[in-house]
Amino acid sequence: MRTQVCIIGGGPSGLLLSQLLHTVGISSIILERQSRDHVLGRIRAGVLEWGTVDMLRKAGVGTRMNAEGFEHTGTFLSAKNRGFRIDFNALIGKKVMVYGQTEVTADLYAARTDAGATLLHNVENVTPIGLDTDTPSVSFDQDGTTKTIQCDYIAGCDGFHGVSRKSIPANVLREFERVYPFGWLGVLSETPPVSHELIYANHERGFALCSMRNANLSRYYIQAPVTDKIEHWSDDAFWDELRRRIPTDAADSIITGPSIEKSIAPLRSFVAEPMQWGRLYLVGDAAHIVPPTGAKGLNLAVSDVHYLFTALDQHYNHGENGGLATYSQTALKRVWNAIRFSWWFTTMMHSYPDQSPFDQAIQEAELSHLETSQAAQTNLAENYVGLPY
Ligand code: APR
Ligand code: PHB
Repeated sequence: MRTQVCIIGGGPSGLLLSQLLHTVGISSIILERQSRDHVLGRIRAGVLEWGTVDMLRKAGVGTRMNAEGFEHTGTFLSAKNRGFRIDFNALIGKKVMVYGQTEVTADLYAARTDAGATLLHNVENVTPIGLDTDTPSVSFDQDGTTKTIQCDYIAGCDGFHGVSRKSIPANVLREFERVYPFGWLGVLSETPPVSHELIYANHERGFALCSMRNANLSRYYIQAPVTDKIEHWSDDAFWDELRRRIPTDAADSIITGPSIEKSIAPLRSFVAEPMQWGRLYLVGDAAHIVPPTGAKGLNLAVSDVHYLFTALDQHYNHGENGGLATYSQTALKRVWNAIRFSWWFTTMMHSYPDQSPFDQAIQEAELSHLETSQAAQTNLAENYVGLPY
């Protein structure tokens, strides 16, 4: 088998890169370890930066997002059960789109299928070969047979646990990591959202977040110990704890219901440098992980895709190689800005196990300053809606 770009991983990064390459006549093959249903069954965050909205429209997969997504011009923060609003539109004339990542992935799958893409599922033992040569290849097993794809370039879109990052020599790769001493317990419920915009709540008992998917599908999170299990949390216990942490007016008006999904996710910040080696280019979670505070995960993957797609288009269709040569340094500049913002937002909003009353007071003072300072709100808004590509 032969293609121009072999893409390892059929999540949002791999699917979007393949779809964009298709629009400019560049061939690709996607190798995905899981089944299509498994990939589509993942529940992930739901806030899209406008740069992501533009990229999805450019890729020709914006129709359902345009019809079903919610444009949000601001968000609420709260401390001591009292909320205030950050108005993105008034501050910087920008907004975000609330539209689930699951839906983004489904739209990308539909587009790739309609275009007759080569998307191989349930593959095993994917192995990049000859990364430091001009003739790289990828071998893999499927249905008991070992196959090889000859290609020009390999896009490592295989997430944090993939094979691509591990294919960069240990003496070349540098990794930066912060593991947070708490996780997020998330619930999906077929109930109307408590607020028309998101509420990020700081509370001495722990962080909470009120989000949504549509007018009758709400997504809520509470900070929980990393050792917690979902079996420890009945629906009633979850709703009671959420009410304790969110603004009083929301706690008094929230409509609760049975959870249709409940899960606990750990939080970490992680960056791998460089994001390229030889003919391998790392994209999305394969290169970096952010805590979900501020929903930067998918959006950061999309900006990586933008940089690599542009570089490959320049190479194949315009004979220019500058973008490929500088992909890692270009992508990492935006990656580190998002890593910093997600770390800052997480640190300000969560209660650490060893936190003192002084630490809580400092968090509340920072939120109080945010409530009254246009400069502070502008800084948050610029990072939340997404810095320029
Ligand atoms: N071979 C083939 N596929 C693999 C391999 C492998 N060795 N290892 C992992 N994969 C697949 C996974 O099954 C997954 O479908 O690669 C895909 C990686 O997808 P994601 O983990 O979703 O990463 P990415 O596409 O970069 O999307 C980033 O997804 O995880 C969220 O928070 C993250 O929102 C962010 C977004
Ligand atoms: C979500 O809707 O799942 C969501 C929204 C915002 C975040 C994280 C998750 O920061």
